[in-house]
Amino acid sequence: MAGDHGLKYAMVGGGIDAFIGEVHRKAIALDNSATLVAGALSSTPERSMESAKQLGLPEDRSYGTWQELVEKESERDDGVDFVVIVTPNNTHHPIAKACLEAGLNVVLDKPMTMTSDEARELAHLANDNDLVCGVTYTYTGYPMIREAAELVRNGTLGNIRRVELRYLQGWLANDIESEGQKQASWRMDPKQAGAGGTLGDIGTHAEHLASFVTGLEIESLSAELTSFVDGRVLDDDTSVRVRYEGGAKGTYLATQVLIGEENTITLSVYGDKGSLWWSNGDANDLKVATLERDTYYLTRGQDSLSERAKAATRTPPGHPEGYLEAFANIYRGVAELINAKKLGTPVGPLGHDVPGPEAGLCGMRFVERVVSSSNQDGAWV
Ligand SMILES: NC(=O)c1ccc[n+]([C@@H]2O[C@H](COP(=O)([O-])OP(=O)(O)OC[C@H]3O[C@@H](n4cnc5c(N)ncnc54)[C@H](O)[C@@H]3O)[C@@H](O)[C@H]2O)c1
Repeated sequence: MAGDHGLKYAMVGGGIDAFIGEVHRKAIALDNSATLVAGALSSTPERSMESAKQLGLPEDRSYGTWQELVEKESERDDGVDFVVIVTPNNTHHPIAKACLEAGLNVVLDKPMTMTSDEARELAHLANDNDLVCGVTYTYTGYPMIREAAELVRNGTLGNIRRVELRYLQGWLANDIESEGQKQASWRMDPKQAGAGGTLGDIGTHAEHLASFVTGLEIESLSAELTSFVDGRVLDDDTSVRVRYEGGAKGTYLATQVLIGEENTITLSVYGDKGSLWWSNGDANDLKVATLERDTYYLTRGQDSLSERAKAATRTPPGHPEGYLEAFANIYRGVAELINAKKLGTPVGPLGHDVPGPEAGLCGMRFVERVVSSSNQDGAWV
């Protein structure tokens, strides 16, 4: 078990009132993948110290700023093994760059950076310095998504013809950023979020999920970005048509203005021998149909599943796993990668499935191409 090797991590962001940092902490704790020992948790030194106090971090490792954290942790003999970066998008690149330059492994949340140039720089830094740079594309952590990827890889679906991906939310149906809703405010501010609103926030999840399952490379795309809510500069609705290398076609819809949609993700992949369907609402099931076998269901925990899916599961069939476990699978993989470098232990399927810097870079290229196409009224780019 990863935790047996006593990995230690620091967090930047994830302080009082933050959303995703707490989810990361719970996911890491679920499998004892690492222990939180240091943090620069908020945007001001005062709040950072208060946040660290609430989490019970030791005083000498509660930092007011991320700069201080990077400097001090990289100097310590017992410094952290990795730094989790869960701040608004515009800060990912400077923080990750400083960490990687100081020899610290990083885990960044998506979107990786503000631009593809920044992402490319981080990828080079990580690769040149043999450091881990994971990107938490949460939804690839589900075991049945890993099984889906395996079914495509082993030819069960034949040649892929079509990929349909919908990621639907409704929490930005109103102008809540004007009312000071914190998560909405920075997500709809181009200076903090980047060139994409919904596109960067959940469109990047859609792009990565489709790529992870199918392995297809996007050749060109035609996109339409819409801001349904008056006064919004960034998109709150993204629709993209995709042509993949090899001839397959795809459609991605990512939107945050559909009232009543909480967090619905559906993926369908259609090949010339078979098809598969998955949704995060029934995350433990995968529906499959083939020309030979009609329609059948695979469920998480079955003996017949691939090693890749089995490695990402904990409880027996019928005892559902969900979002936190999917997140935790990415961190078990991160721990495998770091332990391999630190102790020479083998990297298993979980480690191999950690989205790396190249996946983060693909996400940023996707954002840039979608914006470019939409600015040209949906031209293929
Ligand atoms: N993987 C996922 O499914 C997923 C889900 C939600 C958010 N995210 C990503 O996670 C990141 C954070 O999103 P969130 O919703 O938690 O945002 P949030 O606004 O809730 O939290 C951001 C945190 O970062 C802190 N912060 C800001 N600037 C800082 C700085 N310079 N130094 C230290 N801390 C700083 C804030 O004080 C806050 O604690 C974003 O990049 C977002 O896209 C990913």
